[in-house]
Amino acid sequence: MLQDTHGRKFPYLRLSVTDACNFRCGYCLPNGYQKPAGCAPFLNQNEIRQLVTAFANLGCQKVRLTGGEPTLRRDIVDITRMISETPGIQTVALSTNGYRLEHLATSLYEAGLKSLNISVDSLDPQRFADFTGQDMLPRVLDGIDRALELPFKSVKVNSVLMRGTWEEELDRFSEWIRLRPVTVRWIELMPTGGNARFFQDHFISSQKLRDRLLDRGWMPIPRDEDGGPAQEFLHPEYLGRLGVIAPYARNFCQSCNRLRVTSRGGLRLCLFGDGEQDLRPLMQESAQLTELTQTIERALLGKAISHALETGSFGNNQTFSAMGG
Ligand code: 5AD
Ligand code: SF4
Repeated sequence: MLQDTHGRKFPYLRLSVTDACNFRCGYCLPNGYQKPAGCAPFLNQNEIRQLVTAFANLGCQKVRLTGGEPTLRRDIVDITRMISETPGIQTVALSTNGYRLEHLATSLYEAGLKSLNISVDSLDPQRFADFTGQDMLPRVLDGIDRALELPFKSVKVNSVLMRGTWEEELDRFSEWIRLRPVTVRWIELMPTGGNARFFQDHFISSQKLRDRLLDRGWMPIPRDEDGGPAQEFLHPEYLGRLGVIAPYARNFCQSCNRLRVTSRGGLRLCLFGDGEQDLRPLMQESAQLTELTQTIERALLGKAISHALETGSFGNNQTFSAMGG
Protein backbone atom coordinates (compact mmCIF):
# COMPACT_ATOMS: atom_id res chain seq x y z
CA MET A 1 0.00 0.00 0.00
CA LEU A 2 1.22 3.50 -0.86
CA GLN A 3 2.63 5.18 2.19
CA ASP A 4 4.37 8.47 2.83
CA THR A 5 7.23 9.31 5.17
CA HIS A 6 4.74 10.41 7.87
CA GLY A 7 3.09 7.00 8.11
CA ARG A 8 -0.05 7.94 6.17
CA LYS A 9 -1.58 5.50 3.70
CA PHE A 10 -3.31 6.46 0.47
CA PRO A 11 -6.17 4.21 -0.58
CA TYR A 12 -8.01 7.12 -2.19
CA LEU A 13 -7.45 8.94 -5.50
CA ARG A 14 -9.31 12.07 -6.51
CA LEU A 15 -9.18 12.35 -10.25
CA SER A 16 -10.30 15.44 -12.10
CA VAL A 17 -11.60 14.57 -15.56
CA THR A 18 -12.24 18.12 -16.76
CA ASP A 19 -11.57 21.71 -15.67
CA ALA A 20 -14.68 22.97 -17.38
CA CYS A 21 -17.78 23.86 -15.40
CA ASN A 22 -21.11 25.37 -16.35
CA PHE A 23 -21.60 27.02 -12.93
CA ARG A 24 -19.95 30.23 -11.75
CA CYS A 25 -19.62 29.81 -8.02
CA GLY A 26 -18.25 32.89 -6.31
CA TYR A 27 -15.32 31.15 -4.64
CA CYS A 28 -14.32 29.09 -7.63
CA LEU A 29 -15.16 30.41 -11.11
CA PRO A 30 -16.93 33.75 -10.57
CA ASN A 31 -16.53 34.67 -14.24
CA GLY A 32 -17.25 31.23 -15.57
CA TYR A 33 -14.88 28.74 -17.11
CA GLN A 34 -12.69 30.08 -19.87
CA LYS A 35 -10.86 27.59 -21.99
CA PRO A 36 -7.18 28.51 -21.96
CA ALA A 37 -5.67 28.82 -25.40
CA GLY A 38 -3.32 26.12 -26.61
CA CYS A 39 -3.89 23.81 -23.68
CA ALA A 40 -3.53 20.02 -23.88
CA PRO A 41 -6.82 18.08 -23.96
CA PHE A 42 -8.09 16.35 -20.84
CA LEU A 43 -6.98 12.80 -20.12
CA ASN A 44 -8.63 10.28 -22.42
CA GLN A 45 -10.08 6.95 -21.36
CA ASN A 46 -6.97 5.02 -22.22
CA GLU A 47 -4.77 7.31 -20.14
CA ILE A 48 -7.24 7.14 -17.28
CA ARG A 49 -7.18 3.33 -17.46
CA GLN A 50 -3.37 3.26 -17.20
CA LEU A 51 -3.39 5.71 -14.32
CA VAL A 52 -6.06 3.92 -12.33
CA THR A 53 -4.43 0.55 -12.92
CA ALA A 54 -1.17 1.93 -11.52
CA PHE A 55 -2.94 3.33 -8.47
CA ALA A 56 -4.83 0.08 -7.96
CA ASN A 57 -1.52 -1.81 -8.07
CA LEU A 58 -0.36 0.50 -5.29
CA GLY A 59 -3.31 -0.45 -3.11
CA CYS A 60 -5.71 2.30 -4.08
CA GLN A 61 -9.30 1.14 -3.55
CA LYS A 62 -11.36 4.24 -4.11
CA VAL A 63 -11.46 6.71 -6.99
CA ARG A 64 -13.49 9.89 -6.88
CA LEU A 65 -14.22 11.58 -10.18
CA THR A 66 -14.22 15.36 -9.90
CA GLY A 67 -13.81 18.40 -12.11
CA GLY A 68 -14.68 21.10 -12.86
CA GLU A 69 -17.98 19.46 -13.55
CA PRO A 70 -17.27 15.82 -14.44
CA THR A 71 -20.68 15.21 -16.01
CA LEU A 72 -19.83 17.73 -18.72
CA ARG A 73 -17.78 14.91 -20.21
CA ARG A 74 -19.87 12.96 -22.61
CA ASP A 75 -18.03 9.77 -21.71
CA ILE A 76 -18.51 10.08 -17.95
CA VAL A 77 -20.57 6.89 -17.78
CA ASP A 78 -17.95 4.95 -19.75
CA ILE A 79 -15.19 6.31 -17.53
CA THR A 80 -17.16 5.26 -14.46
CA ARG A 81 -17.68 1.76 -15.81
CA MET A 82 -14.08 1.31 -16.85
CA ILE A 83 -12.76 2.38 -13.44
CA SER A 84 -15.22 0.27 -11.49
CA GLU A 85 -14.16 -2.75 -13.56
CA THR A 86 -10.49 -2.17 -12.73
CA PRO A 87 -9.31 -4.99 -10.43
CA GLY A 88 -8.66 -3.66 -6.94
CA ILE A 89 -10.95 -0.63 -7.18
CA GLN A 90 -13.87 -1.16 -4.82
CA THR A 91 -15.50 2.23 -4.86
CA VAL A 92 -16.04 4.76 -7.61
CA ALA A 93 -17.47 8.03 -6.36
CA LEU A 94 -18.47 11.20 -8.17
CA SER A 95 -18.61 14.84 -7.11
CA THR A 96 -21.00 16.90 -9.18
CA ASN A 97 -23.01 20.11 -9.21
CA GLY A 98 -25.96 17.87 -10.03
CA TYR A 99 -27.30 19.64 -13.08
CA ARG A 100 -27.40 16.41 -15.17
CA LEU A 101 -28.09 14.04 -12.33
CA GLU A 102 -31.73 13.48 -13.05
CA HIS A 103 -30.79 12.08 -16.46
CA LEU A 104 -27.56 10.37 -15.49
CA ALA A 105 -28.24 8.83 -12.08
CA THR A 106 -29.50 5.49 -13.38
CA SER A 107 -26.78 4.94 -15.98
CA LEU A 108 -24.10 5.96 -13.49
CA TYR A 109 -25.49 3.52 -10.98
CA GLU A 110 -25.57 0.76 -13.57
CA ALA A 111 -21.99 1.59 -14.55
CA GLY A 112 -20.90 0.79 -11.01
CA LEU A 113 -20.93 4.17 -9.29
CA LYS A 114 -21.22 3.65 -5.54
CA SER A 115 -21.32 7.08 -4.08
CA LEU A 116 -22.33 10.59 -5.01
CA ASN A 117 -21.52 14.02 -3.59
CA ILE A 118 -23.59 16.90 -4.85
CA SER A 119 -22.68 20.54 -4.21
CA VAL A 120 -25.56 22.74 -3.08
CA ASP A 121 -24.61 26.03 -1.45
CA SER A 122 -28.12 27.36 -0.95
CA LEU A 123 -31.62 25.95 -0.72
CA ASP A 124 -33.06 29.32 -1.66
CA PRO A 125 -33.71 29.23 -5.43
CA GLN A 126 -32.87 32.90 -5.97
CA ARG A 127 -29.71 32.82 -3.92
CA PHE A 128 -28.67 29.60 -5.66
CA ALA A 129 -29.19 31.24 -9.05
CA ASP A 130 -27.30 34.40 -8.08
CA PHE A 131 -24.48 32.40 -6.64
CA THR A 132 -23.98 29.81 -9.37
CA GLY A 133 -25.17 31.87 -12.34
CA GLN A 134 -27.65 29.08 -13.12
CA ASP A 135 -31.27 29.04 -12.10
CA MET A 136 -31.23 25.31 -11.52
CA LEU A 137 -31.95 24.58 -7.89
CA PRO A 138 -35.19 22.64 -8.55
CA ARG A 139 -33.46 20.59 -11.20
CA VAL A 140 -30.52 19.79 -8.93
CA LEU A 141 -32.85 18.80 -6.10
CA ASP A 142 -34.85 16.56 -8.45
CA GLY A 143 -31.56 14.94 -9.43
CA ILE A 144 -30.77 14.26 -5.79
CA ASP A 145 -34.19 12.72 -5.22
CA ARG A 146 -33.67 10.56 -8.31
CA ALA A 147 -30.36 9.37 -6.88
CA LEU A 148 -32.03 8.60 -3.55
CA GLU A 149 -34.38 6.19 -5.29
CA LEU A 150 -31.40 4.09 -6.34
CA PRO A 151 -29.44 1.87 -3.95
CA PHE A 152 -26.27 3.99 -3.90
CA LYS A 153 -24.00 3.32 -0.94
CA SER A 154 -23.96 6.99 -0.15
CA VAL A 155 -25.51 10.23 -1.37
CA LYS A 156 -24.16 13.36 0.29
CA VAL A 157 -24.56 17.07 -0.19
CA ASN A 158 -21.64 19.44 0.24
CA SER A 159 -22.21 23.06 1.02
CA VAL A 160 -19.66 25.80 1.56
CA LEU A 161 -20.04 27.61 4.86
CA MET A 162 -20.51 31.34 4.35
CA ARG A 163 -20.78 34.26 6.70
CA GLY A 164 -24.13 36.00 6.67
CA THR A 165 -26.17 33.19 5.19
CA TRP A 166 -25.20 30.07 7.09
CA GLU A 167 -27.86 30.33 9.80
CA GLU A 168 -30.66 30.58 7.30
CA GLU A 169 -29.20 27.74 5.25
CA LEU A 170 -28.82 25.61 8.36
CA ASP A 171 -32.55 25.97 9.00
CA ARG A 172 -33.47 25.19 5.40
CA PHE A 173 -31.18 22.19 5.11
CA SER A 174 -32.30 20.81 8.47
CA GLU A 175 -35.89 20.91 7.29
CA TRP A 176 -34.91 19.34 3.99
CA ILE A 177 -33.24 16.33 5.63
CA ARG A 178 -35.98 15.76 8.18
CA LEU A 179 -37.45 13.08 5.92
CA ARG A 180 -34.55 12.52 3.53
CA PRO A 181 -31.73 10.08 4.32
CA VAL A 182 -29.03 12.46 3.09
CA THR A 183 -25.94 13.79 4.80
CA VAL A 184 -25.37 17.51 4.33
CA ARG A 185 -21.87 18.67 5.16
CA TRP A 186 -20.64 22.23 5.45
CA ILE A 187 -17.08 22.79 4.43
CA GLU A 188 -15.13 25.82 5.55
CA LEU A 189 -14.33 28.16 2.72
CA MET A 190 -10.73 27.79 1.61
CA PRO A 191 -8.53 30.47 0.07
CA THR A 192 -7.11 30.06 -3.42
CA GLY A 193 -5.01 32.28 -5.64
CA GLY A 194 -8.17 33.39 -7.39
CA ASN A 195 -10.63 34.08 -4.58
CA ALA A 196 -8.84 36.41 -2.11
CA ARG A 197 -11.61 39.02 -2.04
CA PHE A 198 -14.41 36.49 -1.81
CA PHE A 199 -12.60 34.70 0.96
CA GLN A 200 -12.17 37.92 2.93
CA ASP A 201 -15.85 38.73 2.62
CA HIS A 202 -17.30 35.29 3.27
CA PHE A 203 -15.06 33.13 5.42
CA ILE A 204 -16.40 32.07 8.78
CA SER A 205 -15.02 29.33 11.00
CA SER A 206 -17.25 26.33 11.63
CA GLN A 207 -17.16 26.73 15.40
CA LYS A 208 -20.46 28.62 15.61
CA LEU A 209 -22.17 26.05 13.43
CA ARG A 210 -20.86 23.24 15.59
CA ASP A 211 -22.10 25.00 18.74
CA ARG A 212 -25.50 25.55 17.17
CA LEU A 213 -25.80 21.89 16.25
CA LEU A 214 -24.95 20.78 19.77
CA ASP A 215 -27.43 23.32 21.20
CA ARG A 216 -30.14 21.85 19.04
CA GLY A 217 -29.53 18.32 20.15
CA TRP A 218 -27.41 17.05 17.25
CA MET A 219 -25.05 14.34 18.44
CA PRO A 220 -21.53 13.87 17.05
CA ILE A 221 -20.98 10.42 15.54
CA PRO A 222 -17.62 8.78 16.22
CA ARG A 223 -15.54 8.94 13.05
CA ASP A 224 -14.73 5.69 11.34
CA GLU A 225 -11.22 4.77 10.24
CA ASP A 226 -11.48 5.76 6.61
CA GLY A 227 -14.32 8.18 7.08
CA GLY A 228 -12.42 11.13 5.70
CA PRO A 229 -12.24 14.58 7.18
CA ALA A 230 -15.89 15.22 8.10
CA GLN A 231 -17.41 15.26 11.58
CA GLU A 232 -21.01 14.10 11.26
CA PHE A 233 -23.96 14.55 13.59
CA LEU A 234 -27.31 12.84 14.01
CA HIS A 235 -30.59 13.68 15.62
CA PRO A 236 -33.48 11.36 16.54
CA GLU A 237 -36.02 13.56 14.77
CA TYR A 238 -34.17 13.68 11.45
CA LEU A 239 -33.60 10.97 8.86
CA GLY A 240 -30.60 12.75 7.40
CA ARG A 241 -27.33 13.81 9.01
CA LEU A 242 -25.45 17.07 9.20
CA GLY A 243 -21.69 17.41 9.10
CA VAL A 244 -18.77 19.79 9.21
CA ILE A 245 -15.47 19.72 7.34
CA ALA A 246 -12.89 22.02 8.88
CA PRO A 247 -9.64 22.10 6.91
CA TYR A 248 -8.19 24.63 9.33
CA ALA A 249 -8.60 22.37 12.30
CA ARG A 250 -5.42 21.21 13.93
CA ASN A 251 -4.72 17.59 12.97
CA PHE A 252 -6.75 17.86 9.77
CA CYS A 253 -3.81 16.65 7.74
CA GLN A 254 -3.02 13.76 10.07
CA SER A 255 -5.84 11.75 8.56
CA CYS A 256 -5.01 12.68 4.97
CA ASN A 257 -5.62 9.55 2.89
CA ARG A 258 -5.85 10.95 -0.63
CA LEU A 259 -3.82 11.97 -3.63
CA ARG A 260 -5.02 14.08 -6.52
CA VAL A 261 -4.49 13.94 -10.24
CA THR A 262 -5.50 16.87 -12.41
CA SER A 263 -7.47 16.59 -15.61
CA ARG A 264 -4.26 16.70 -17.62
CA GLY A 265 -2.40 14.14 -15.58
CA GLY A 266 -0.55 16.19 -12.97
CA LEU A 267 -0.04 14.43 -9.64
CA ARG A 268 -0.77 16.76 -6.73
CA LEU A 269 0.34 15.64 -3.31
CA CYS A 270 -1.68 18.25 -1.45
CA LEU A 271 -4.56 20.56 -2.27
CA PHE A 272 -2.42 23.41 -1.01
CA GLY A 273 0.98 22.25 -2.16
CA ASP A 274 3.28 23.72 -4.75
CA GLY A 275 3.90 22.18 -8.09
CA GLU A 276 2.79 18.92 -9.57
CA GLN A 277 4.38 15.99 -11.26
CA ASP A 278 3.36 15.30 -14.82
CA LEU A 279 2.40 11.62 -15.05
CA ARG A 280 0.81 11.85 -18.46
CA PRO A 281 3.83 10.76 -20.52
CA LEU A 282 3.78 7.50 -18.54
CA MET A 283 0.09 6.83 -19.16
CA GLN A 284 0.42 6.05 -22.84
CA GLU A 285 0.80 2.25 -22.92
CA SER A 286 0.69 -0.81 -20.69
CA ALA A 287 4.43 -1.36 -21.04
CA GLN A 288 4.95 1.79 -18.96
CA LEU A 289 2.95 0.55 -16.00
CA THR A 290 5.92 -0.34 -13.81
CA GLU A 291 7.58 2.99 -14.44
CA LEU A 292 4.35 4.83 -13.73
CA THR A 293 3.86 2.95 -10.48
CA GLN A 294 7.43 3.61 -9.35
CA THR A 295 7.16 7.28 -10.25
CA ILE A 296 4.07 7.68 -8.07
CA GLU A 297 5.77 5.90 -5.19
CA ARG A 298 8.83 8.08 -5.48
CA ALA A 299 6.81 11.28 -5.71
CA LEU A 300 4.99 10.43 -2.53
CA LEU A 301 8.21 10.68 -0.55
CA GLY A 302 7.92 14.42 -1.02
CA LYS A 303 4.50 14.77 0.59
CA ALA A 304 4.50 17.39 3.33
CA ILE A 305 3.18 16.63 6.78
CA SER A 306 0.59 19.39 6.60
CA HIS A 307 -0.65 22.29 4.55
CA ALA A 308 0.40 25.78 5.69
CA LEU A 309 -2.99 27.48 5.39
CA GLU A 310 -2.71 29.06 8.81
CA THR A 311 0.33 30.99 7.63
CA GLY A 312 -1.62 32.26 4.65
CA SER A 313 0.04 29.95 2.16
CA PHE A 314 -2.12 27.94 -0.19
CA GLY A 315 0.48 26.76 -2.66
CA ASN A 316 -0.25 27.16 -6.32
CA ASN A 317 -3.95 26.38 -6.02
CA GLN A 318 -5.51 29.05 -8.26
CA THR A 319 -8.99 27.55 -8.26
CA PHE A 320 -10.53 24.29 -7.19
CA SER A 321 -12.01 23.78 -10.62
CA ALA A 322 -8.59 22.69 -11.81
CA MET A 323 -8.28 20.07 -9.14
CA GLY A 324 -11.65 19.01 -7.90
CA GLY A 325 -11.42 20.15 -4.28
N1 5AD B 1 -13.42 26.41 -0.46
C1 5AD B 1 -14.14 25.34 -0.04
N2 5AD B 1 -14.67 24.44 -0.87
C2 5AD B 1 -14.51 24.65 -2.16
N3 5AD B 1 -14.93 23.95 -3.20
C3 5AD B 1 -14.51 24.55 -4.32
N4 5AD B 1 -13.82 25.67 -4.02
C4 5AD B 1 -13.80 25.74 -2.68
C5 5AD B 1 -13.24 26.65 -1.76
N5 5AD B 1 -12.53 27.70 -2.16
C6 5AD B 1 -15.65 22.70 -3.08
C7 5AD B 1 -17.04 22.91 -2.59
C8 5AD B 1 -17.86 22.86 -3.78
C9 5AD B 1 -17.09 21.89 -4.62
C10 5AD B 1 -17.31 22.07 -6.06
O1 5AD B 1 -15.74 22.12 -4.32
O2 5AD B 1 -17.39 21.80 -1.78
O3 5AD B 1 -19.14 22.44 -3.46
FE1 SF4 C 1 -4.13 16.20 2.79
FE2 SF4 C 1 -3.16 18.43 1.86
FE3 SF4 C 1 -5.75 18.17 2.38
FE4 SF4 C 1 -3.97 18.29 4.32
S1 SF4 C 1 -4.49 19.87 2.88
S2 SF4 C 1 -5.68 16.91 4.18
S3 SF4 C 1 -2.26 17.21 3.42
S4 SF4 C 1 -4.60 17.13 0.84
